[in-house]
Amino acid sequence: MSFSFELIAEDKQARAGTIDLGHTKVETPIFMPVGTNASVKAILPCMLKAVGAQIVLSNTYHLYLRPGIETIEKLSGLHRFMGWKRGILTDSGGFQVFSLSDLRNINPEGVYFKSHIDGSNHFFSPEYVVELQYRWGSDIAMVLDECPPYTMDKSYVKKSLDITINWAKRSIRARREHTVNALFGIVQGGVFDDLRKEAAIAMKDLEFDGFAIGGLSVGEPTEDMYRVVPIVNEFLPKNKPRYAMGIGRPENIIELIGMGVDMFDCVMPTRNARNGTLFTRFGVVNIKRQQYRDDDRPIEEGCGCYTCRNFSRGYLRHLHKAKELSFYTLASIHNLYYYINLVKSARKAILNGRFRSFKDEFYALMKEGEA
Ligand code: GUN
Ligand code: ZN
Repeated sequence: MSFSFELIAEDKQARAGTIDLGHTKVETPIFMPVGTNASVKAILPCMLKAVGAQIVLSNTYHLYLRPGIETIEKLSGLHRFMGWKRGILTDSGGFQVFSLSDLRNINPEGVYFKSHIDGSNHFFSPEYVVELQYRWGSDIAMVLDECPPYTMDKSYVKKSLDITINWAKRSIRARREHTVNALFGIVQGGVFDDLRKEAAIAMKDLEFDGFAIGGLSVGEPTEDMYRVVPIVNEFLPKNKPRYAMGIGRPENIIELIGMGVDMFDCVMPTRNARNGTLFTRFGVVNIKRQQYRDDDRPIEEGCGCYTCRNFSRGYLRHLHKAKELSFYTLASIHNLYYYINLVKSARKAILNGRFRSFKDEFYALMKEGEA
C-alpha cells in the first residue's frame, strides 16, 4: 500500500495537504473531473493535463457493465486503457445503481440491479466492488454504500445507514485479501444530525485511507448540506483526506473547503459546458445569448485556459449554434480550468493563512458580476 496523506497547513477549519498515490501526487484541496466511461466527456488526457487535473473520477457501475472487467484487465488496467497516468478514483457503483438502474433490490447482502444498457441482471456485493476496483487498478476505491433519496423518512435512512455501515466493515475485510491501493469509507445519514454523527463515529475507527461524505446534493436545501458537513468532520480523523461526493456549485466547494473538506468531484463543469453555461469569476456566461454575437472578448478576461487565450465569445457562440463538436471541447476546457484553478487558489490562500479574505473576494467578484 503506497497511499499516504500529509496535512501541510490549516487555516481555521480549512486544510491544505498532499496525497501520495505512489506513482503520482495530488495536492489538496483538489477538484476531480468526472470521467464516467473512462473518458472525461469531450476532453483528452493531454487536455486534462493542460487544465491542471491531478486525478479524475470514474465509475465502477459503468465500467463493469461496459466494457467489463475482463476487457480492462486484458488491456492492462484502467490507467493504460484510458491513457491517463495520473490519479484515478473510482466510485463504487452504489450511487449509480440507485440513480440509473431500472430495477434494483437492496438487501443486507448487496444490491441486485438491471443494466440500464441492455436490461441484464447483476449483483454487487461490497466485497465484489472492492475486488473490481482493485483488479482494474484504481488508485482510490470507494466502498459500496446506499445513498437514500432526500424524500426518505428517518426510519428508512436509519435502516439504510445500518446496512451501509455493515458493508463498510465487510469492505475493510475484503481489502485485506486484495490490498486495494487505497480504500475510502462513505458517511451517509441523510439530513439527520444524529444519524450523521452516528455514521461518522462508526466509520472513523475503521481502517480506511480516507472518508467521503455521501448523500449530499440529492435535492436537500443547501442549509442542510452546510449543517451536516461540519457535524461529520468533527468526528473524522484529521490525518486522513475527506471527500464530498458530487459537490458541487463553485460556492458549495468554497464553503466546504472552509469546513475542512479536501476532495471534490462534480459533472457540473463538463455538463454545463456542453449546454453553453460557462463559469467565470464574475458569474456564469450563457454563451447562447444574442449579446455575445459580436463579442470579441474571451469567456473570462485574464483566464489562462487554452480556450480563452485563443477564442472570442462571438466565435464560441457561433460554434455552439452550429453544433460544432469543437464547442464541447473548448467549453469543457474552460470550465474545468475554472473549477480546478478555483480550488488551487483556495489551496494557495490556505497555505498563506488568508482563506477568509480569499472567500470574501470570491463573493465580492460574483456580486460585481451581477451588478
Ligand atoms: N456520488 C454522489 N453522492 C454519492 C454517494 O452518496 N455515494 C456514492 N457512492 N457516490 C456518490
Ligand atoms: Zn478560460
